[in-house]
Amino acid sequence: MINRINSFGEYWSAYNESVQNPEQFWANQAESFFWRKKWDSVLEWNFEEPSVKWYGGSLHNITENCLDRHLFTRGNQTAIIWEPNDPTQAAQHITYKELHERVCKAANILKNNGVKKGDRVCIYMPMVPELAVSVLACARIGAIHSVVFAGFSASSLADRLNDAEATVVLTSDGAYRGNKSIDIKGIVDEALAKSPTVKRSIVLRYANTPVTFTEGRDIWWHEEEAKASAICEAEPMEAEDMLFILYTSGSTGKPKGVVHTTAGYMVYAGYTFANVFQYNDGDVYWCTADVGWITGHSYLVYGPLLNGATTVMFEGIPTYPDASRFWKVIEKHKVNIFYTAPTAIRSLQGFGLEYVEGHDLSSLRVLGSVGEPINEEAWHWYHDHIGKGHCPITDTWWQTETGGIMIAPLAGVTPTKPSFATLPLPGIQPVLVDEKGEELVGNGVEGNLCIKFPWPSMIRTTYGDHERCRLNYFSTYAGMYFTGDGCRRDEDGYYRILGRVDDVINVSGHRMGTAEVENAINEHLAVVESAVVGYPHDIKGQGIYAFVICDTHVPMESSLLKSEIIATVSKIIGPIAKPDKIQIVKGLPKTRSGKIMRRILRKVAEGDISNLGDTSTLLDPTVVEDIVAGAKLV
Ligand code: PRX
Repeated sequence: MINRINSFGEYWSAYNESVQNPEQFWANQAESFFWRKKWDSVLEWNFEEPSVKWYGGSLHNITENCLDRHLFTRGNQTAIIWEPNDPTQAAQHITYKELHERVCKAANILKNNGVKKGDRVCIYMPMVPELAVSVLACARIGAIHSVVFAGFSASSLADRLNDAEATVVLTSDGAYRGNKSIDIKGIVDEALAKSPTVKRSIVLRYANTPVTFTEGRDIWWHEEEAKASAICEAEPMEAEDMLFILYTSGSTGKPKGVVHTTAGYMVYAGYTFANVFQYNDGDVYWCTADVGWITGHSYLVYGPLLNGATTVMFEGIPTYPDASRFWKVIEKHKVNIFYTAPTAIRSLQGFGLEYVEGHDLSSLRVLGSVGEPINEEAWHWYHDHIGKGHCPITDTWWQTETGGIMIAPLAGVTPTKPSFATLPLPGIQPVLVDEKGEELVGNGVEGNLCIKFPWPSMIRTTYGDHERCRLNYFSTYAGMYFTGDGCRRDEDGYYRILGRVDDVINVSGHRMGTAEVENAINEHLAVVESAVVGYPHDIKGQGIYAFVICDTHVPMESSLLKSEIIATVSKIIGPIAKPDKIQIVKGLPKTRSGKIMRRILRKVAEGDISNLGDTSTLLDPTVVEDIVAGAKLV
């Protein structure tokens, strides 16, 4: 059993111990996992290179911890409850024994197709059990998984395949989302035309939609499964072997492959799951995130399975067939712990209480929130109407790069305040710094959030480009990991995340680089230049506002042009990056050195034009007047 903190006093003693003697603390936590060989050293690190190594000299396999070790104690317990998109279709209950067998078979499918330890396998699949099975199958044989959210476009997928030099893709013949059916095999085919490293595409027959196969490359999962043995020895992994790559957006145009290694990630995902959610043996736990995001990796698949929990995997969306779907699923599967995103809460709140009423939510004990700041109104609605006033809310702050939850209340243990992620978890040493990198000591301060000491599941590198990792995260403030978030520490020492301070926006909990969206917009033939900023959006948290300069020689009506730009972004990145507002402008506010003054564009997008600040350093200050006038018409 993973160690669990049960009181606020215990939290403080664990926290103090973790700061005073981190190596001892993390060695103690690691003791509750199964190792083929224990570590020689707990931690070696420097943040200059950066180089971080946890549990050096040890051997283990994360799937033995997620699956094998539970076989004797809970082999017949449900590991995964799969709830399909279509509510009239039966849910699946997969026991630990069955999951083990399915993972071993899938691992053998990979092996039979030439996949070896260290190879990169891309998973582009709908939210079906085989997605979790694929992730674990890779881990079983030491292949590095790179899950790409199946809402990304062919070109985004191709970029990720090429960056990772993946050799195999796992996909399906189709997917459903609400009342839409998606031709994901078609998207994969389009991507593979531009991804020469991929030699195999293993296709799950799921939607039964007709697909075309490329001879010698595409094969059916079920045909391979029929030939695969159900026995697959787990590959003994060294602590710092890569477990997975997950692409995420930064300030630059190109998404980066965040690399997580296996031992530290395992210990941290398992430990934080048990503690943040105060998981009790037998609880049914539901995280609504897609496995294509870090939340799905750490708290749908790995964290729960490491704890022997029953984890719900939902294929659908919150509003299909109607806005009561979440509450119906909670009632149906008697969910005890529910973890979702503020954007979903705000959207469901907007449909009205009639969708909540009449559903038995009495099984709920803990509520979680992730992905973006939760505003007070949504917090109270969640607390009062879903948690009926008695379920603690854990507002969990973390990132793809951190691998696991960093700042969050332990549910029911840490006293909460709406919109505060509260206190750092044991092992996490946050600091707030000012622009110059000076640490802001004491309480009642606001600054940029950094972490000054390593934790087991932290990013190790960005795939194929270590310098990028150093520059992005470890060079802004010497000797510290910089999160990119602004943060306030109030008089009680509680942390409130204020949002990104870089050129990253958070749309419905999805992280997007403004440069990435601009690059996509600029692909449209009529576009000369663009600038993208975020603006407050009632449901999405932030919306995407694009200022676009168009070629006047291309005679196009502006509404047509705007819809074409939206279609271009959707094609290049995926529907999640579609601009909410597009303003066609004659010029952008640039300084004499050619830098776009985004501060001004942000103010315009927010509708706050009363105080645009100093515009005297602009090359052409009249541009701003045009933009302000045009904004009223958007
Ligand atoms: O700005 C923070 C915001 O989401 C960013 C990380 O995004 P991503 O890597 O996609 O991971 C999302 C899921 C962990 C952070 O830099 N963020 C995440 N959780 C919160 C949050 N902002 C405020 N409160 C949170 N609970």
